[in-house]
Amino acid sequence: MKRVALITGINGQDGYYLSRFLKSKDYDVHGITSCSKPGIGEPPENCYYCDFAEGSNLNQILGTVQPDEIYHLAAQSHVRLSFDIPVYTAEVTGVGTLRLLEALRYYEEQSQKKIRFYQASSSEMFGKVVESPQSETTPFHPRSPYACAKVFSYWQTINYRESYGMYACNGILFNHESPRRGEAFVTRKITKAVARIKLEMQDKLYLGNIDAKRDWGFAGDYVEAMWLILQQDKPDDFVIGTGKTHSVREFLEAAFGAVDLDWKQYVEIDPQYYRPAEVELLCADPSKARQKLNWEPKVSFEELARLMVEADMRLTQQEKILSEASS
Ligand code: NAP
Ligand code: GDD
Repeated sequence: MKRVALITGINGQDGYYLSRFLKSKDYDVHGITSCSKPGIGEPPENCYYCDFAEGSNLNQILGTVQPDEIYHLAAQSHVRLSFDIPVYTAEVTGVGTLRLLEALRYYEEQSQKKIRFYQASSSEMFGKVVESPQSETTPFHPRSPYACAKVFSYWQTINYRESYGMYACNGILFNHESPRRGEAFVTRKITKAVARIKLEMQDKLYLGNIDAKRDWGFAGDYVEAMWLILQQDKPDDFVIGTGKTHSVREFLEAAFGAVDLDWKQYVEIDPQYYRPAEVELLCADPSKARQKLNWEPKVSFEELARLMVEADMRLTQQEKILSEASS
C-alpha cells in the first residue's frame, strides 16, 4: 500500500519540492491550496481548497484523504508583509496551525489511526538572537508578527505532542531558496533583477537592509530533512540549516558576479524595504540533524546564487522573446 501524504501550502516553494520528493519515494501525494486566487475553478486532482484563516472544511479533507503524514507548510510567510497585515498573519500562520492540529486530534480519535505531523517552524523565531549559532535549545525572541505567529504554532505543536501523545514535530528551518522562491523574497528579487539588468530590461534594483545576514540553503535539500524528521522512532524538533551565514551584500556579489556585473553600479537603498524591527543575524547549529537524521545540505551558497541566476536568465530570455513577438 502506498503511504499517503497531505501537504498544506502545496503551491508554495517548499510544497513544489516536497511533493516531487515524496512522489519519488512512491507516496500518494495530496495537497491543500488557499481559496484566495481570483478566477479559480475546479481544484486540480488530489488538491483541496482550504483557507487557514477559517479552516472549516479541514475535518472533511482529513476524512477524504486519510493521510499517514501531514506536512503543514501553508502560511502567510512574508516577514515584511506581516507588519502590514498582522492580524491576518496571526490567523493564518498561527491559529491556522491550531485549527489543523485540532482537526487532526478529532480525526485520530475517530479513525483510531496515528498520523505524523510536521510543522514548518522558522529560524525567524530566534529573531534578536541571544547566542550564535542557534540550536534547538536557543531561546526565542521573535521580531515580527510573522515570527510571533510561528512561535505560537511551534508551542501548539509541542503541546499536542505532550498532551495527547500525538506524533507532532517542528522543523526549525533557516532560509532556503530556489528558482521557485517567491519574487518578494530578497534572493529571488535579486536574481530576477540580475537577469533583467543583464538583458537590458531594467536599470536599477532597490533594496532595504543589505547588511542583514542569513544562513541560506537550497530548498531541494531542505525538504528531505522534513521527511527525515517524520521517519524517526520518536517525535522531536530539529534545527535545519547550513551552519554558514552570509550578508545580503555577499549574495549581491555572488549573483551579479555570476553574469560578470558589478552590483554597486545597479543597487540603490530604498528605506521602504526596511522593517520596523530587523533580524540582523541568523546562523544555524545543525549538529542534532547531522547526528540523528544523518542530514547534510548539498548545495553551497555560491552554487545556490548561480543556479538561481541561471534559471532567471532562461525565464527572462523567454519573456523578452514573447514580449518582442507581441509588440
Ligand atoms: P511560500 O512559498 O510562501 O508558500 C506558502 C503557501 O501557503 C503558499 O503557496 C500559499 O498557497 C499557502 N497559503 C498562504 N495563505 C494561505 C491561507 N490563508 N490558506 C491556505 N494556504 C495559504 O512559503 P515556502 O517558502 O514554501 O515555505 C513553506 C513554509 O515554511 C511556510 O510556512 C514558511 O513560513 C515556512 N518557512 C519557510 C522558510 C524559507 O526560507 N522558505 C524558512 C522557514 C520556515 P496558495 O498558493 O494555495 O495560496
Ligand atoms: N524581502 C526583502 N526585500 N528583503 C530585503 C530587501 C528587499 O528589498 N532588502 C533587504 N532585505 C533583507 C531583509 O530585511 C532581511 O533581513 C533579509 O533581506 C531576508 O529577507 P527575506 O528574503 O524577505 O527573508 P526573511 O529572512 O525575512 O524570511 C524568510 O526566511 C524565514 C526563515 O528565517 C521567509 O521565507 C520566512 O517565511 C522564513 O520563516
